[in-house]
Amino acid sequence: MIALRFEGVSLVLDVSAGQLPAIVHWGADLGTLDLADVEALILSNIDPGGPNVVDEPVRLAVLPEHWTGWVGRPGLSGSRAGRAWSPKFTATDVRVDGKPVINGEDGATVVNAGVASVAVDAVDEEAQLQLQITIELCAGGLIRARAELINRGQDPYTVNDCVLVFPIPQRAREILDFAGHWGKERVPQRRALGVGIHLREGRKGRTGADAATLLHVGVPGFSFANGEIWAVHTGWSGNHTHYAERVFTGVQLIGGGELLLPGEVILQTGQTYSTPWIYGAYGSGLDAVAARFHRFLRARDTHPTTSRPVTLNVWEAVYFNHDLDQLVELAERAAAIGVERYVLDDGWFGARRNDRAGLGDWTVSAEVWPNGLHPLVDKVTDLGMQFGLWFEPEMINLDSATARAHPEWIMATGNRLPVESRHQQVINLGIPECYAYIRDAIFDILAEYKISYIKWDHNRDLIDAGTAPDGRPGVHEQTLAFYRLVDEIKAAHPGLEIESCSSGGARVDLGVLERTDRIWVSDSIDPLERQQMNRWTSQLLPPELLGSHIASARSHTTGRMHDLSFRAATAIFGHLGIEWNLTAISAEELAELREWVSFYKANRRLLFSGDVLRVDFPDANLVMYGILAPDRSEAIYTVAFNGSSDVMLPGRLRFPGLDPGRRYRIRPIPVGRPPSGLNPPPWWGAIAKEFEPPGEHRALHWGLPPDGGPGLVLSGAALGSTGVMAADMHPEQAILYRTEALD
Ligand code: DGJ
Repeated sequence: MIALRFEGVSLVLDVSAGQLPAIVHWGADLGTLDLADVEALILSNIDPGGPNVVDEPVRLAVLPEHWTGWVGRPGLSGSRAGRAWSPKFTATDVRVDGKPVINGEDGATVVNAGVASVAVDAVDEEAQLQLQITIELCAGGLIRARAELINRGQDPYTVNDCVLVFPIPQRAREILDFAGHWGKERVPQRRALGVGIHLREGRKGRTGADAATLLHVGVPGFSFANGEIWAVHTGWSGNHTHYAERVFTGVQLIGGGELLLPGEVILQTGQTYSTPWIYGAYGSGLDAVAARFHRFLRARDTHPTTSRPVTLNVWEAVYFNHDLDQLVELAERAAAIGVERYVLDDGWFGARRNDRAGLGDWTVSAEVWPNGLHPLVDKVTDLGMQFGLWFEPEMINLDSATARAHPEWIMATGNRLPVESRHQQVINLGIPECYAYIRDAIFDILAEYKISYIKWDHNRDLIDAGTAPDGRPGVHEQTLAFYRLVDEIKAAHPGLEIESCSSGGARVDLGVLERTDRIWVSDSIDPLERQQMNRWTSQLLPPELLGSHIASARSHTTGRMHDLSFRAATAIFGHLGIEWNLTAISAEELAELREWVSFYKANRRLLFSGDVLRVDFPDANLVMYGILAPDRSEAIYTVAFNGSSDVMLPGRLRFPGLDPGRRYRIRPIPVGRPPSGLNPPPWWGAIAKEFEPPGEHRALHWGLPPDGGPGLVLSGAALGSTGVMAADMHPEQAILYRTEALD
């Protein structure tokens, strides 16, 4: 028996009597437990059975086994040509942090604080299968599990499916996961959990803009602040599943795994199949669940520092029109307003003058860049900025030298090509020669230029993604090869950062995040959309990993127009970038943009080390997002009106999460121009503004000193419960606030 406890979470495992590990409790902290407590908990968890089911209580292991009488989805589905399809594993060894505990003196290991890793070895002699299950309690109080299956038989063993599960209590009956599509990623959806399986399959060969991302099941009505929630995330960038199951007995669980295509994994003698990590987060309210993932990610040695450089990406400024003079002018203007990293996007290589040609030919286009990228790279680095470059290593256009030379490298099921998508096909990194070619091409570019950053794109689903000559499914291998390639590049280029982009935000998962440093949330930079997408993407990732740009006034994806104040007040809560043709904007706009860049730089340490706060409002038009310093000494918030309300004024705004016993000064933060239609409440102490006739919707001055004025002093308790009157403003506008502790 093993009881683990960390960061407000207890995890109690039953590993007794040579059985696979089963979770007896995963949830609220149970305090210090001794052996008798753990035994009592295990006993308390055994159900009384019922009519017309197997005579022994069915024990739900982390890898559910059919032989126990479990008739829900099994953990392992596979066979040796029809045999060994219902294995019965016997645990042979249990270790906690590498130390054996089976046959131990006291029979229980209680780790009362800290991260811990439990490994259980098991075997089924008859089925000739060996299994290792690892369960960890990680930083942030997150749990995760994975399995390794080894074929010990002479005949091949086909793995059809291998999932791991975490049991959840019956009071958790409401599901929240995500939908989405290009330009609108991570749209929350809720439904009730009934008997059966709520199954989310990702069959796109990449994580997908429509991925479940996180599947939560909580007590009905759970919100950002309240309600117990158990959530699962599959840390994998290929085909995958997330699911919640409620069986007829009332047993409930959440789980996930890789989704394997027919015959994709056939283990020869001695070969191993490893599942991805399946992560679990427990918390009261969605913010608490998100905080576990954030703390887990921030605890990594490789986690980027809080000084995330302000980035200029040229994509929406120039698209494929690479003109050195304009790109240099962009660089000069960017540097002048404080940009720290410059990223050259798609279009610099081969015949890539549009999206129909060139993918796969990773050499600089002599036609567009007669002197190579040197003039631009030199200019950018001379200006003191880092240089970043776009690649899409897993893709190929038929109109490319590489496709003409190696048609067998294109993923396909046989003699026909898959349907095209964005005029491109997938190049097969599972073929060693192809992998070596792509790796060497990237290495050559990295050797020639001073490149600090790669934007790694992936712009189509994997359809009919097989391997020549017989067309066997290759998504599993492709996903592993992608990971290997990133790992190799990173190992050879310490300090190089990589952004995970996939038609916007279609590769957002902890598998890719184990090895990359930023994700591109969406190709939609419209702040109205980003208010939602950034907010929900931060359910998994902390703000410093979310690529968050300020784009042109008219959104290229939605056509909507927004003031710079709204675009910027939205973007600064992520890793700030600019994706806007700075060569075509006015001096006033540049000056205002510079103000926002300075504000971001002055505050990024807080923004990227604090706890994310999202406030529940009955009126969905009102959106509030805050970052609280871990010691609660200060916090920054954005309050956005995404639409018009049914009532005239939004009323009081609460600022929860502060230390109730401390006194705080709250004040607005005036950056750039004020939001349109600003009507400040008296507590701002703003200088009365002159009457603005209807139609004049742009207030030019805040009527406040640069520090925001005296504001109000209130206790954390009062700010969290009573709140202060909100300023009014027009829809699609935002205001920043700051709270600072005075004692
Ligand atoms: C899709 C990405 O999401 C965009 O940001 C851009 O890099 C294009 N691909 C380039 O083709």
